[in-house]
Amino acid sequence: YGDASQKIDYVFKVVLIGDSAVGKSQILSRFARNEFSLDSKATIGVEFQTRTLVIDHKSVKAQIWDTAGQERYRAVTSAYYRGAVGAMLVYDITKRQTFDHIPRWLEELRSHADKNIVIILIGNKTDLEDQRAVPTEDAKEFAEKEGLFFLETSALEATNVETAFLTVLTEIF
Ligand code: GTP
Ligand code: MG
Repeated sequence: YGDASQKIDYVFKVVLIGDSAVGKSQILSRFARNEFSLDSKATIGVEFQTRTLVIDHKSVKAQIWDTAGQERYRAVTSAYYRGAVGAMLVYDITKRQTFDHIPRWLEELRSHADKNIVIILIGNKTDLEDQRAVPTEDAKEFAEKEGLFFLETSALEATNVETAFLTVLTEIF
């Protein structure tokens, strides 16, 4: 999965951030291993996974970092953001609070990361449309105002996960 060729042309570090339980670890697991688990445990500290893809005939190793949304499990913030060229800011479309916290995550990101970092806002869990609490338009408007890319995903159904990573990786590229 991900066709790793022998030679790596680029290594891109991308960080995942957002409240606990929005699905960051499952988005990563879907992208890196095409796996999904409903009984995912809260992340403690920092984990990362990689996947190598070919973009424009170059092999790009995406190194995706995942940390805890819960404050008490978070690792040192500056180390997490160091060297990151992309960021995925994730909320849960069924939990309004996780969207309301996005400006805070964005502030943390902007104060620690490189100013040229490519950011995508992600509304996850679109498979739970009947429980939607965040209208797509609200998020779209926010993303436009802040100059972020925006997509809604479902890690469970594998909807738009690949596209979300490709959007960031291609833009970095
Ligand atoms: P922390 O590590 O605590 O920051 O949480 P997290 O953002 O990594 O959340 P995680 O990926 O562990 O997912 C939390 C819960 O949401 C788990 O029960 C997942 O199975 C579930 N989940 C993740 N993505 C989806 C999705 O797209 N749809 C549905 N229905 N559930 C999802
Ligand atoms: Mg996690």
